[in-house]
Amino acid sequence: MTAPRLSLSLFAAAALVATGLLACRSGPGGGSSPDAFQAQVAAGARVYAAHCAECHGASGGGTDRAPALVGAGALPKSPRDWQDREGEFRTALDVAVFATRNMPPRASDRAKLATEDYWAVLAFALSANGVQLEEAVGPDNAGDVVLHP
Ligand code: HEC
Repeated sequence: MTAPRLSLSLFAAAALVATGLLACRSGPGGGSSPDAFQAQVAAGARVYAAHCAECHGASGGGTDRAPALVGAGALPKSPRDWQDREGEFRTALDVAVFATRNMPPRASDRAKLATEDYWAVLAFALSANGVQLEEAVGPDNAGDVVLHP
């Protein structure tokens, strides 16, 4: 049997891990409910549209300016040859740290975003990839959302 398609299995696995491990832990701002996660997703969609979509595409599918953040093959564990990214994306926390430090690429654009905006846009990206958490995502639980074991 050939190896399972990572892109398809990845987020399904993350969803199981997330619902299993995170159900009883609280995220930032006391957001320990599925509603809190959904509120983050909604806020994140607005952040994404205003600050990320021009390069990553309206639905996150990527453009000639930036790679996809949503869909099969998005957010691969290892950076592609052409990327500046050096670290691996093992968990959602790795993605959050990378985005917070590097996205958008211009520091003056990053300065317009608050920490909550980054967690919201991460929630949006997880949701768009099929991951639903039982609470808001934040620094206490993003490391438990395993994208690539
Ligand atoms: C001006 C264009 C631009 C904007 C705006 C932008 N990005 Fe990016 N993004 C890029 C480029 C280019 C890369 C590839 C960086 C590299 O070489 O590793 C990237 C890479 C990424 C990656 C890593 C993807 C991967 O597969 O390694 C994430 C996550 C990401 N961006 C998130 C965001 C988020 C979230 C926002 C909005 C807050 C955003 N980006 C806004 C251009 C942009």
